Amino acid sequence: MSQIRILAVAAGRGGTGKTTLAFAVADALRRLDPAADVALVDLDPQAGLTGYAKLPPAADPLNDPPVDTHGLPFYRGGRTLAHATDQQLARHLERALDGRDDRVLVLDMAPALTDAAHRVVFARPDVMLLGAIKTDPGSFQSLNELVAYVSRRGLPYVLVPTIHRSVLLNNTMLLTMRQQHEGHVSDVVVPLDGKAAECVVAGQPVTMYAKRSKAAKAIFALVEELFGSAVPATAER
Ligand SMILES: Nc1ncnc2c1ncn2[C@@H]1O[C@H](COP(=O)(O)OP(=O)(O)OP(=O)(O)O)[C@@H](O)[C@H]1O
Ligand SMILES: [Mg+2]
Repeated sequence: MSQIRILAVAAGRGGTGKTTLAFAVADALRRLDPAADVALVDLDPQAGLTGYAKLPPAADPLNDPPVDTHGLPFYRGGRTLAHATDQQLARHLERALDGRDDRVLVLDMAPALTDAAHRVVFARPDVMLLGAIKTDPGSFQSLNELVAYVSRRGLPYVLVPTIHRSVLLNNTMLLTMRQQHEGHVSDVVVPLDGKAAECVVAGQPVTMYAKRSKAAKAIFALVEELFGSAVPATAER
């Protein structure tokens, strides 16, 4: 059995909360286990996560050294990622793992489905997909394609819905998703919460910016639901 070394936050499409989730999950993993070795990798040429951390994009993301973001090593994104070869991306992941057996990478993936980064990441045996999903009809097709892609490779995946609480109870999309992907939708639902949007002004994940906000509490609960008290690299899948 492979250990999970990489949490790839993806959705196959844009604007589903991938970057917000990736930043907060990485931070929450560290807060729940201060000894955990967690690193962030922005694999999006648009460098959304890099911007959320209030950092400039990397001129050469595949070679520039990591920077520190709130105590986490952070491999920034940048435009030239769009032209990276499979081999270069594979090397980049190994560089970020840094030969450390206990390191876990949290990847923020671009809004794409079958680009080189998705190909390379999901070719590895030690990856878990965290699917960031907003429950609107447009999300479903790309999500289903992404899930098919990932499950064909036998990889674990968990779909994390972000949803407005007031429509939670009768949200048929959420029910449908739970039926279609039984056992693969997190119990935790991330609420739409102004704090989760506002935190980028401070360059912080919501779990740091507003620890007691509904969104932050949900992310902490999600990490506990997924990994218990053990970080992924120390837990067998
Ligand atoms: N839980 C939440 N509550 C409120 N707003 C949120 C939440 N999660 C994300 N958002 C907002 O939704 C928008 C999209 O979020 P985010 O940038 O994380 O998505 P993305 O999937 O990474 O987008 P892209 O595909 O463009 O990279 C942002 O304005 C963000 O602040
Ligand atoms: Mg993004």
